[in-house]
Amino acid sequence: MRQKMARFAENEERRNILQPGKAIYENIRGNWKTDYFKNDNPIVVELACGRGEYTVGMAKLFDNKNFIGVDIKGDRLWKGSNAALEHGLEHVAFLRTQILLIEKFFEEGEIDEIWITFPDPRPRDRDERRRLTFKRFLEIYKRILKPGGTIRLKTDNTGLYEYSVETISERPDVENLHHTNDLYHSELRPECLDIRTKFEEKFSAQGHDIKYLRFNFKTD
Ligand SMILES: C[S@@+](CC[C@H](N)C(=O)[O-])C[C@H]1O[C@@H](n2cnc3c(N)ncnc32)[C@H](O)[C@@H]1O
Repeated sequence: MRQKMARFAENEERRNILQPGKAIYENIRGNWKTDYFKNDNPIVVELACGRGEYTVGMAKLFDNKNFIGVDIKGDRLWKGSNAALEHGLEHVAFLRTQILLIEKFFEEGEIDEIWITFPDPRPRDRDERRRLTFKRFLEIYKRILKPGGTIRLKTDNTGLYEYSVETISERPDVENLHHTNDLYHSELRPECLDIRTKFEEKFSAQGHDIKYLRFNFKTD
């Protein structure tokens, strides 16, 4: 508990963590490139980022894009923030918010790509609305994504994977849906850049195949 409090105190001082209580947190919507990144590069967001393995891993690979990890847990964000600082990654930020409220922080079309990495599967029927691929979340992603922007989901969970494939493939506004229930033996593997998250390591060690899908909304 003491360690958690110390990390929360550090988060308050860190530029790369945007969280309640900081002025920039209230004013960042529509202003990420001018006020935080100070460049005009594309923005890639990792939702449910936990320790931000994709955010940091991709930032190491691409210095011509900006990366933002989003999660509600401050101690996990502290770890991602640490990793970004250790590697001198200025094009990385972490945003502490409920994903349902993400439009407070991104204006329409502000994001180029979304990764959803091992979100909680929410298997109970009554929790369907909390799944990050439930309709209301997809509508939010559609608004904050640039036309043609890509959404990618990685999960170990068969139920969430099948639910997501079904929900997304039924939508008339979706195109280029590609998916696999065994990423490591799929031709889609290279696009995941061989970055593995903490939960991915855990579940694949338990023998679960990793599932992956990606799609974009039609530009019409
Ligand atoms: C199973 S963990 C996965 C973490 C990381 N992506 C990984 O693969 O190791 C799910 C993460 O999603 C976050 N999360 C779940 N629901 C959320 C929500 N509605 N808004 C923000 N974060 C959420 C949790 O705090 C947790 O860190």
